[in-house]
Amino acid sequence: MSIRPHEPAPGTPAPGRLPITELAEMKTRHQPIVMVTAYDAPGGRLADEAGADLILVGDSAAMTVLGHDSTVPATMEEMLILTRAVTRGARRPLVIADMPFGSFQVSDEDAVRNAIRFVKQAGADAVKLEGAGLMLSRVRAIVGAGIPVMGHLGLTPQSATMLGGYKAQGRSAEKALALLSDARALEAAGCFSIVLEAVPAPVARRISEELSIPTIGIGAGVDCDGQVLVWHDLLGLYDGRAARFVKRYAEIGDTIRSALETYAADVRERRFPEEQHTYAMPDEELALFEQAVLQRHE
Ligand code: KIV
Repeated sequence: MSIRPHEPAPGTPAPGRLPITELAEMKTRHQPIVMVTAYDAPGGRLADEAGADLILVGDSAAMTVLGHDSTVPATMEEMLILTRAVTRGARRPLVIADMPFGSFQVSDEDAVRNAIRFVKQAGADAVKLEGAGLMLSRVRAIVGAGIPVMGHLGLTPQSATMLGGYKAQGRSAEKALALLSDARALEAAGCFSIVLEAVPAPVARRISEELSIPTIGIGAGVDCDGQVLVWHDLLGLYDGRAARFVKRYAEIGDTIRSALETYAADVRERRFPEEQHTYAMPDEELALFEQAVLQRHE
């Protein structure tokens, strides 16, 4: 497949979608951008109804939904299914598909091909990819193909091993400067926004001030241009060890467990289903049915 670097945008925004250009205007107005992850159609619908601006179909799905212990095993096929489900549920928010490990590292051509799959097959508005350095060329190639790209710096879970584990990044002057320089390079490569994960708040604030594109923080302080949280963390659905930056706004896991316990007890005690949950049939039809069954036994 040959990739033309400046072919027109492969998708036109769905009616009612937030224009991507609005994000930079929100930054200018100092209006915080709300992003949340989601992985299915009800999640997309609820995030939309709650007024989220951006929905990230994160490769965190590998852990939160698929039960892996890191994000690395997420595949393109899995991410396409989840993204398709979210875009069916969400109307106004822009849906950003997270490019899974292995889908963009090998070559620009691979990266563009996979980004196009997210747009064409799953209805994504944009993609996100982790890192800078060699990945800048991937960003340029995808943006050149007309697909908006969100960058991701700081703690980038796909390379957690290289970073020495899941820990905050940019905590020395030298490392903070490297982050700023990567952020500038991603902006120059064409990213429309950058996630800053687990970065000291003053460093994230300075990066946000230095860029004209919005930053979206997770564990990066209140001065980023927007914030993102993972659905399962925010709602109390994930029982792994929570990162310092997680705030649980609900304990839905407890609610679900208790509802399931009540259901199980009702089934065992024959309290469920009740009359209102069952279907009737005309008495004469029932009588005919019983009679026919009895005749078969004779
Ligand atoms: O995969 C994900 O959910 C993410 C967010 C933590 C930004 O990358």
